[in-house]
Amino acid sequence: MCGIIAAASNRNVGKLLVQGLHKMEYRGYDSAGIALHQKDQIAHLRTLGKVKLLEEKMIAEKPKSKLGIAHTRWATHGKPNQVNAHPHKDQSGNIVLVHNGIIENYDPIKKFLRSKKVKFKSETDTEVLVQLIGYFFNKGKLNFEQSVRAALQRVDGAYGIVVLNKKEPDVMIAARRGSPLVLGIKDKEFFIGSDISPIIKHTQQIIYLEDAQMAIIDGDDYKITSINEDVSLPKKVEKIDFKIDDYDKGKFKYFMHKEIHEQIDTIRNTITGRTKKDSIMLHGLLDYWPEIKQADKIFITACGTSWHAGLIGKNLIERFAEVPVHVEYASEFRYNKTLVDNNSIVIAISQSGETADTLAAIKKANDYGAITVGICNVPGSSVSRETNCGIFTRCGHEVGVASTKAFTAQISILYLLALKLADSNDTMSKKAIKEHLDYDEGIKKIKNILNKENEIKKIALKYKNANDFLYLGRGLNFPVALEGALKLKEISYIHAEGYPAAEMKHGPIALVDKDMPNVFIVPKDKTYEKIISNIEEIKSRKGKIIIVTDSKDKILKDLANDLIYVPKTNHYMFCVLATIALQLFAYYIAVGKKLNVDRPRNLAKSVTVE
Ligand code: AGP
Repeated sequence: MCGIIAAASNRNVGKLLVQGLHKMEYRGYDSAGIALHQKDQIAHLRTLGKVKLLEEKMIAEKPKSKLGIAHTRWATHGKPNQVNAHPHKDQSGNIVLVHNGIIENYDPIKKFLRSKKVKFKSETDTEVLVQLIGYFFNKGKLNFEQSVRAALQRVDGAYGIVVLNKKEPDVMIAARRGSPLVLGIKDKEFFIGSDISPIIKHTQQIIYLEDAQMAIIDGDDYKITSINEDVSLPKKVEKIDFKIDDYDKGKFKYFMHKEIHEQIDTIRNTITGRTKKDSIMLHGLLDYWPEIKQADKIFITACGTSWHAGLIGKNLIERFAEVPVHVEYASEFRYNKTLVDNNSIVIAISQSGETADTLAAIKKANDYGAITVGICNVPGSSVSRETNCGIFTRCGHEVGVASTKAFTAQISILYLLALKLADSNDTMSKKAIKEHLDYDEGIKKIKNILNKENEIKKIALKYKNANDFLYLGRGLNFPVALEGALKLKEISYIHAEGYPAAEMKHGPIALVDKDMPNVFIVPKDKTYEKIISNIEEIKSRKGKIIIVTDSKDKILKDLANDLIYVPKTNHYMFCVLATIALQLFAYYIAVGKKLNVDRPRNLAKSVTVE
């Protein structure tokens, strides 16, 4: 959601903070701001709109500082405007803070502070927190650290914060609960980020702050402590191996486009090293494999695109390993009555590893004694730390808000997991498993789809002015239809729905008229004849038909207004290829509408609030 970058250094930090904000514009983008400590005062600049406007202000005002905090905002409480932009100050101007997350009990705290004559300027929940810290600090009984701790002990909700105090020019305090924060260390320089993207350029030595931890930077020194008590905690410094390249668009205009093209490598990376002839090695699950392989039911929980991957996982695990799988949105799982117990396996899927609902679902599963398994892309993220065991998707940093390479990596992992379970449960022969693991040819076929880019672009542009789309598929390709529709909605703002193809007769067909495009995903498999009947049904209502298929049958040519051919492979690879075709289709519709594909309106990359 919002993005935070902070730095303490011996050099001027203004420029690097603004550069960091640019790296995080994909997270939040309605306003931006910066606060720079200047010994006896704090320079405070905020702008509505893009980081570029803040940068222009910085160039004009040239504030110098060795300690500062900066923020890009994705509005939750209060409209996007300059007054609501971060950093926020307390009434005395002593305390300045940036925040990512939501303070849930802001209302009673605000009433309390108002009763103490505190005046508020913004509509944000964040201002309540900075005013509360200021309230404790200005009373004079608590020092800066104690004031931050006292305030945090009184707030509910999720937060990652960094706070400055006008009276202490060398001190910066960071704290987190729920929302992620990382601390980067390089000699005597310190960097704090809501993720590693703004700091990776400066250091690869990272501490992932854990829930309820605080980091206090004081000159050349720092300590890790707890929000709950004044104790010194171990400094767990890790060397991260993300490449700086992951944060550059290279020859592409948009990250989404770059990430679509990366899939030939990312899928290979995800699988490589985990298979050998007919065996699958998922080392991250080793300690819990005896329990996982005996599961008589598996739960999968996730949000958005990761939830779609979960539906594909269900299909594969049930098909290969014959274990029933229940897939539930994490936002529902966390509140619904659960049948999870200490014999259950709960798989949580998340690209970012920081999605608030997914984390809450993991917590619930842990509380019920289940074995929790994370499928996640970010080492050190909350999902990777809160689950008992897990597998990383290894597809590199995903910047585009519309998830692409993470989805195909997630389904690759679920494919391996399903085959490994099938192997352990003897539900598939070694020979069949070996055939499935002969994936190299399949992966090469991704190139074929990427080479068809111009063809897909031409088709996409024909439909860019449509108002509604239906995406229809069966079996493994029903989630592919959901994902295709989600991609289109997110980046082109065209209403699109995914359905199991036959289900469309039970309501959605009422929407179909001559202007409505219907995207059918049609592999030549056992449902082929059935899906052709579904296409006929739409055709007879004059709907436009776009078919993604691996069949050259004439009947499809006769039925389709447009055809996107994908090369012949197995079931799993077909859904990967069809997904990539639909990613490109959505991408070119959005580009055709001249939309900023990497910064879709109202969306943020990582949803760290409930
Ligand atoms: C995907 O294109 C979305 N932007 C979104 O649905 C995303 O998949 C969802 O928010 C879950 O994120 P996660 O995988 O990081 O948990």
